[in-house]
Amino acid sequence: MIVKPDAVAKSAIGQIIARVEGEGFVVRALRMVELSAEQAGAFYAVHRERPFYGELVEFMTSGPAVPMVLERADAVAHLRDFIGPTNSTEAPAGTIRGDFGTDVQCNAVHASDSAVNAKSEIAFFFAD
Ligand code: RTP
Ligand code: MG
Repeated sequence: MIVKPDAVAKSAIGQIIARVEGEGFVVRALRMVELSAEQAGAFYAVHRERPFYGELVEFMTSGPAVPMVLERADAVAHLRDFIGPTNSTEAPAGTIRGDFGTDVQCNAVHASDSAVNAKSEIAFFFAD
């Protein structure tokens, strides 16, 4: 998971971590980063052709972000469900995006969407 710059700016890092810990996730690694445009672009390279790619890179470089490694049974599916849909305005109250996100872009957190992608995203931020 990454706590994105909008949620860091809202001083919501602690509240978000408390929620995922309360949901049974164990924090295995954690750091604060300030992504360069190159790094943010590489992290979201899958979206390179999308119309929102430039804005997404700008957003992800707008301030510090907090990537972390979370462990839990069925972690990927459970976290995706727990954070809510991409568009925060459609995310139910009680989900992380519903409670801390603002819109389709500023949506408080990133969560890996598969175990394979989680592995490469962990390697993007953390040593072995
Ligand atoms: P994420 O990768 O950050 O966990 O988000 P996601 O899977 O729910 O959504 P995805 O389609 O992968 O989009 C990645 C991020 O790009 C921004 N976005 N902006 N302006 C737009 O229409 C738009 N659509 C997506 C969001 O920050 C989204 O989380
Ligand atoms: Mg995604």
